[in-house]
Amino acid sequence: MAVEALEENPLRAGLRSRRKPDPSAIVVFGVTGDLTHRKLVPSLYRLYAEGLLPAGFAIVGVARRDWDDGQFRDTIRGALDEFLGDPVREEVWQGFAAGLRFCPGEFDDPETYRRLGEVLAKTSEERVHSGNRLYYLAVPPSVYAPIIDGLGGADLGRDGASHGWSRIVVEKPFGHDGASARLLNARLRRWFREDQIYRIDHYLGKETVQNILVFRLANGIFEPVWNRQYIDNVQITVAEDIGVESRGPYYEEAGAIRDMIQNHVLQLLALIAMEPPVAFDAVAVRDEKVKVFRSLHPLIGSDVDRSVVRGQYSTGLSHGEPVAGYQQEEGVAEGSLTETFVAMRVFLDTWRWAGVPFYLRTGKRMPKRVTEISLQFKQPPLLLFGRGMRGAPEPNVLAVQVQPDEGITLKFGSKVPGPTERVHPVHMDFRYGTSFGEKTSEAYERLILDCLIGDSTLFTRDDGVEAAWGFVDPIVARWYAVGTAPAPYEAGSWGPDAAEDLVDRDKREWRRL
Ligand code: BG6
Repeated sequence: MAVEALEENPLRAGLRSRRKPDPSAIVVFGVTGDLTHRKLVPSLYRLYAEGLLPAGFAIVGVARRDWDDGQFRDTIRGALDEFLGDPVREEVWQGFAAGLRFCPGEFDDPETYRRLGEVLAKTSEERVHSGNRLYYLAVPPSVYAPIIDGLGGADLGRDGASHGWSRIVVEKPFGHDGASARLLNARLRRWFREDQIYRIDHYLGKETVQNILVFRLANGIFEPVWNRQYIDNVQITVAEDIGVESRGPYYEEAGAIRDMIQNHVLQLLALIAMEPPVAFDAVAVRDEKVKVFRSLHPLIGSDVDRSVVRGQYSTGLSHGEPVAGYQQEEGVAEGSLTETFVAMRVFLDTWRWAGVPFYLRTGKRMPKRVTEISLQFKQPPLLLFGRGMRGAPEPNVLAVQVQPDEGITLKFGSKVPGPTERVHPVHMDFRYGTSFGEKTSEAYERLILDCLIGDSTLFTRDDGVEAAWGFVDPIVARWYAVGTAPAPYEAGSWGPDAAEDLVDRDKREWRRL
């Protein structure tokens, strides 16, 4: 059913101009969970509202609930009312709700998958008219295995011209370490080919993140200076002001290094550091990203103590309000050694980047939510201006603001007006809001659409995930081996002092954000 578009702006027109997906059923495991309610349901609704879901789409929820389709629809409506951010439009809702189906069952019961097969066959007959299915695992990793085997065992992973395609979306965390990631990959490959598997890293769906390659490679002026000859250091900050919220038990197992560094932060690094791919397609782009992960200079043994800082927030102020420390959060053990902050200095063993430090940091309960990547340029060979003044002029910085104030800023020195040689930093600014309209689309909208279209460029590949774990594993191993306790930092601060020392030692500074 064609529905009038929600909004008109060039960014959304961009999504709309893409190839439209074939008719398909989207099967969501974990329809009672947070991810489904906060992210998937609003994104699916928006895609539908913009006419981007395929005609005859269906969304089949699978969960351990004794619901019928009506109760499932009520739950989905509740999620939309709470998390859409805009009022739900009744005429849109009616059309959207018509595609919702429910399949009750335990994830480890073969009967569930037999029943799911029936629901899919019936739905296909009634409205989808194709055998295409997208399975979305929006569940905790502990139930990935029974679901994957359940689907495979019931022959629901089949894919071929005569019965349509099937694809499977796996959420992060993808494994707990290299060994478990390899096992998970092996399990998936028992039933699905690599090109049927979509490992989500939602940072890759963010508009600003996708723009990194466009910025680098669709413009003539940046790439020639994008290397060790001109760049002094690169900084990637992914700061959050929230604490662990209700996710204490998950976070206790993960910590910031598994939750953020292994995936989101290393993905950002890969896009900044990779070589230009031979084409913008899933094979070429991911080939180059994997090379970056493999070129990360390993941090092993005492290198970890020197180059990685582990922190944990204690009580403090968040936007002026007193907040609990990590160990007082629900589901967190007193005396927990889990880190909520990581800062590290890494090098890439490549011709382009040899000797250029990449400083990475991420943390919860930082002063604000901000994700920024900055490239700091070397000083000019001769300082002609501003002599006799304190310190050298500030270096040029190119900063990509991933969120929340999406844009790109170039900082350079300008002469202060008047009879003076003084140089003062000024900024050239590009803001998405100003140039393209109000809102960028949700990362999940773009990613779901790509799964339906069959484009896995923005998803992580088996070898990439394993290579990223290959870098992270020895760091975690060292922490466990020597019992490195995270350094406390006050909630609402930029992390422990050791994070400052990490850059200070190199006579550099974190960018003030
Ligand atoms: C998730 C992490 O992958 O990313 C969370 O598990 C984190 O801990 C979230 O809060 C951050 O995502 P965003 O899009 O809000 O920056």
